[in-house]
Amino acid sequence: MTDDTSVLGQPIDRVDGVLKVTGRARYAAEFSPDNVAFAVIVQSTVPRGRITRIETADAQRLPGVLAILTHRNAPQLPQKGRSAVNPPAGRTLSLLQDDVVHYNGQPIGVVVADTFERAVDAAEHVRVSYALQPAALRFDQAKRAPRPPKQEGNSPSKKSWGDIDAGMQQGVVRVDATYSTPMEHHNPMEPHATVAQWSGDRLTLYDATQYVSGVRETVAKTLGIPSDNIRVIDPFVGGGFGCKGSTWSHVVLAAMAARHVGRPVRLVLARPQMFGPVGGRPETEQHVVLAAGRDGRLTAVRHGVIAHTSEMEDFVEPSAAPTRALYACANGETRHLLATLNVGVATFQRAPGESTGTFAIESAMDELAYTLRMDPVQLRLVNYADSEPQSGKPWSSKKLRDCYSDAAARFGWNRRTPEPRSMRDGRILVGLGMATATYPAHRRPASALAKLMPDGTVVVQSGTHDLGTGTYTVMTQVAAQTLGVPVERVRFELGDTALPSAPVSGGSTTVSSVGPAVHAACVALRERLIGRATQDGQSAMSGARATDVDIDGGFLRVRSDANRREPLAALAQRAGPIEARAEAKPGEEEERYASRSFGAVFVEARVDPDLGIVRIPRIVATYSVGRVLNRKTALSQLQGGIIWGVGMALFEESLLDPRYGRYANNNLAEYHVPVCADIGDIDVAYVEEDDTIFNVLGARGIGEIGITGVPAAIANAVYHATGTRVRRLPITLDKLL
Ligand code: MOS
Repeated sequence: MTDDTSVLGQPIDRVDGVLKVTGRARYAAEFSPDNVAFAVIVQSTVPRGRITRIETADAQRLPGVLAILTHRNAPQLPQKGRSAVNPPAGRTLSLLQDDVVHYNGQPIGVVVADTFERAVDAAEHVRVSYALQPAALRFDQAKRAPRPPKQEGNSPSKKSWGDIDAGMQQGVVRVDATYSTPMEHHNPMEPHATVAQWSGDRLTLYDATQYVSGVRETVAKTLGIPSDNIRVIDPFVGGGFGCKGSTWSHVVLAAMAARHVGRPVRLVLARPQMFGPVGGRPETEQHVVLAAGRDGRLTAVRHGVIAHTSEMEDFVEPSAAPTRALYACANGETRHLLATLNVGVATFQRAPGESTGTFAIESAMDELAYTLRMDPVQLRLVNYADSEPQSGKPWSSKKLRDCYSDAAARFGWNRRTPEPRSMRDGRILVGLGMATATYPAHRRPASALAKLMPDGTVVVQSGTHDLGTGTYTVMTQVAAQTLGVPVERVRFELGDTALPSAPVSGGSTTVSSVGPAVHAACVALRERLIGRATQDGQSAMSGARATDVDIDGGFLRVRSDANRREPLAALAQRAGPIEARAEAKPGEEEERYASRSFGAVFVEARVDPDLGIVRIPRIVATYSVGRVLNRKTALSQLQGGIIWGVGMALFEESLLDPRYGRYANNNLAEYHVPVCADIGDIDVAYVEEDDTIFNVLGARGIGEIGITGVPAAIANAVYHATGTRVRRLPITLDKLL
């Protein structure tokens, strides 16, 4: 749908950039209704048991305290704390419906006061006694008795193809290794925050979320009120990373508290409160067995995953999912089991499954390459999958071969000497490693509205989200391109359940789902505008055939007569607002094709042999992600994803205290994410691609693929540098000494 003059793909600046740098972009916690009160949650301090006493009288007497809700006085909800809505929208919540404690940090009360400081102070004066029960807090113990999930997640927990035993016997070389990844927490800069305001029986929520309509549905079902009575607003999100894809307890608690005190209530989680009650990435242990012939062809692949889940709810981290899709191997077996712990419910985090899973499978492929004495890129080319291995379906589009060759050339892979510890720069060990990146492409039904305003501008709306990803900008480009108006004349609105509904902004599906809806609404509006103009006696288009009329640069014009043109504004002034609404959803292509994005990541690691310190001066990656709609925001997405990958490889790890079930490093001073000094050159490129089988825009979505493959590429580079294979993330210096 593009040509040389297309605005699609252009690296235009963020249309919301000025609002952001001038502080005028409003985030959830910054909405401040008149008379707003402040809520703070009280959390359990034990990992498992029952509340035997909860004393609130002293706290209640402190100045400014408006209310203290606990399980003793909270309103009984229809679902009694059960999960009212399944993920991704809803999770099993802690809503003060009983005295049971499932994890340390569980919300067990809400204090509301006239200032934030008074609410914090009063919360510290609530005294709680517990009857303790034994808690499961050690993954290394819980994993000894793993169990299948009680319900399936987004992908089946178990999947096999071919004949695994025969395939294992065919192989003449074998890699059999166990990889593990720690618990992590999302830590977006913007904490979770909810401002709840009732007006009679109508509720407005300003909520930091990746899913406004999911919040509406969950709060409605949980409180037992019609969803039409709820409006959820969130024009800007300060990072999501998956934790804001679900509606957690604090959102409903804010609504309950606001109703209880008869005032609007603001509830903002403190950084330590984001370790537990709002999800995190499960710990995984992944057993991978690869069997191959001397030529490197895989004859069997087995990937077994044990991940932790909460006592409250099963969440499956689908780490074996990439193994079902990466390499042409006739025989495979993949399986996910769970180990139950007394921790908060785990959730989707930054390429769930794919980022943890590619660490294992792509490390194992590197180990196989050394076993075979084969170049790691060559091994991947030998096993290149021209169709999806688990299903045999053709890809809607896949240009991974080009990714390997392009990234290898730009990186200078041919400089690499294969032996571990064979490259040095002075006393520093240098290692070059690579891995494949991959993330599935999905889309969900979405709707949008496009409206020509009397001033000739176009307003386009969809209840989607901009997590800092560039949705405002890219949707503006899609609308401008489709309608034939300049981007400056388009205003895109999102983040409001009053707008046409859109799916969760998770799973890298916003562009792939909402983009086609915006396109369809603009196609419909364009037809309507042309139809209206040709029948308008005052229009220069009057009497022209609709097929002979075009819209370009904000002007209607008759193709066959250059003198007949008219600004859209003129039509709008005569006709008033003209609008069109459309829904877009996946079609039968979803059944016939497999759609996935891929990439090749090359990493240079430098390791101090005496201190074990790892530095990553250089990462080069090339991606096959379909059409890139804005080369600038796409670059930010992919570089950001790669930086997540560096964090996952070298730093990030939530340390659960096995005695008390509390996270010992529940703050940004001790939960390390990469800072500028940790990041060197990140050189990203895309192959030319247009996946028009997948959707009309040809774009598969790029929110999460950047993180995938990076931890393995780093581990592989560290092995090449040092000869030490680190199979447990993060790769901290103690593992190299
Ligand atoms: Mo993403 S972890 O699906 O928000």
